[in-house]
Amino acid sequence: MEKIIIFDTTLRDGEQAPGASLNPAEKLEIAHVLSDLGVDVIEAGFPISSKGDLESVQQISKAVKGPVICGLARAIKADMDAAHEALKFAKHPRIHVFLATSKIHMQYKLKKAEDEILRLAVESVKYARKFCPDIEFSPEDASRSEREFLFRVIEAVIDAGAGTVNIPDTVGYAQPEEFGSLIKAIKENVANIDRAVISTHCHNDLGLAVANSLEAIKNGARQVECTINGIGERAGNASMEEIVMAIKTRRDLFSGLETQIKTGNIYKASRLVSKLTGFVVAPNKAIVGGNAFRHESGIHQDGVLKERSTYEIIKPEDVGFTGTGIVLGKHSGRHALAERLKELSFALSPEQLDKVSIRFKALADKKKNIFDDDLISIVEDETKLIKPVWKLESFVITSGTNITPLAQVSLKYKNKKLSAQSSGDGPVDACFKAIDKITGTKCELQDYRIEAVTKGKDALGEVSLKLKAKGHVVTSRGSSTDIIESSVRAYINAFNKIESL
Ligand code: KIV
Ligand code: ZN
Repeated sequence: MEKIIIFDTTLRDGEQAPGASLNPAEKLEIAHVLSDLGVDVIEAGFPISSKGDLESVQQISKAVKGPVICGLARAIKADMDAAHEALKFAKHPRIHVFLATSKIHMQYKLKKAEDEILRLAVESVKYARKFCPDIEFSPEDASRSEREFLFRVIEAVIDAGAGTVNIPDTVGYAQPEEFGSLIKAIKENVANIDRAVISTHCHNDLGLAVANSLEAIKNGARQVECTINGIGERAGNASMEEIVMAIKTRRDLFSGLETQIKTGNIYKASRLVSKLTGFVVAPNKAIVGGNAFRHESGIHQDGVLKERSTYEIIKPEDVGFTGTGIVLGKHSGRHALAERLKELSFALSPEQLDKVSIRFKALADKKKNIFDDDLISIVEDETKLIKPVWKLESFVITSGTNITPLAQVSLKYKNKKLSAQSSGDGPVDACFKAIDKITGTKCELQDYRIEAVTKGKDALGEVSLKLKAKGHVVTSRGSSTDIIESSVRAYINAFNKIESL
């Protein structure tokens, strides 16, 4: 079997998605999950872009030892120095150098002629090679570059020491057949191509990132750059879960090829990235969407009951999707809870299990059947990396059709009880305003969404919101069977996140 290298760029290109900023602790948590998932390369950041990014790549390099840890750099010495500094503790470091090769980028952005670009590309790869043996080079906007010039650049950077040449469809312009033919042409026209791995990096502006990546693999690419849930610049990057499951499901078309992804961990990784970035996964999203394995029509349900493969090409459990099976209830003990959490791949410390257990019991008093998704939501709520300085003590709401909503909220701040009262446009607004009075912080709610975690009137409601305060924008979540409480929890979580920055 030949391996397809999975290069995950959730923490670099994924984080470039507007509004998806992650703090270093969150990035580290994602990096661990990516490592558990079995990705081969983690692009941990763009170290020159900020001090925080450099430190975060450094932290990941120290803590995550399985996959190659990669840092991005422009073809500029200072960038490569920063990447080297960030990666100096990595067991397997990689510097990823990029330089545009399309006419449009060379003329308008870089204001450089072809010869200068060629010289810079070669010099940069040689410079980066002094720091580490594993160098990747990307001719940015490759899919819109003149082919003859692109071939020359690729040949030169391989001679200079690049072990991977990545072909980006930077603006998501390519069509599958065309992109496949570009990879084929590179294989046929670059004399030393056998000395490097061909990689792809496709963006989703025309919704073709996954199709283009798969076509590239069929034509000889052996590394794919992708992100969890397909997050990334503009319309995003190629989605990892879709590529991996396409290769696995259609072995007939990808014979002899495999990835090393432990697919049973996909759903967990998807949830985590969604939770930490605040990007809700669309219900109809392939592989990880809430409806991806739901059969609604009677004909389909009947077919699946008779023989799953009539309407299911992937078993939900193959991607770790546990669905809505009833698992636990009021009479389930701590042991049953711990066992189920283990089956869901959560490794909790005894203290974390205590906290989850308390929330579980409280939920079981209100809700007859506890589903896996309820458990996941509680665990995510209770295992936050951030130490909460603000804690919810209690709240009381007065609301109705013909009265002005009024909220009385009490929080604990470093063990001191603080309370405030406020009216608002609705009960949620009144609570938020009361919290603002307590914290004394001026903030702007930029996004607010609510989703039912499972079906039924007693389902947990999960609130995701985006809050701007003290110069930061953070995303956070909260869940409860009471949607006002979910909102209050999410709002307080956001304050705790801001305090941690
Ligand atoms: O889209 C792109 O071209 C990139 C490069 C830095 C590889 O993200
Ligand atoms: Zn990109």
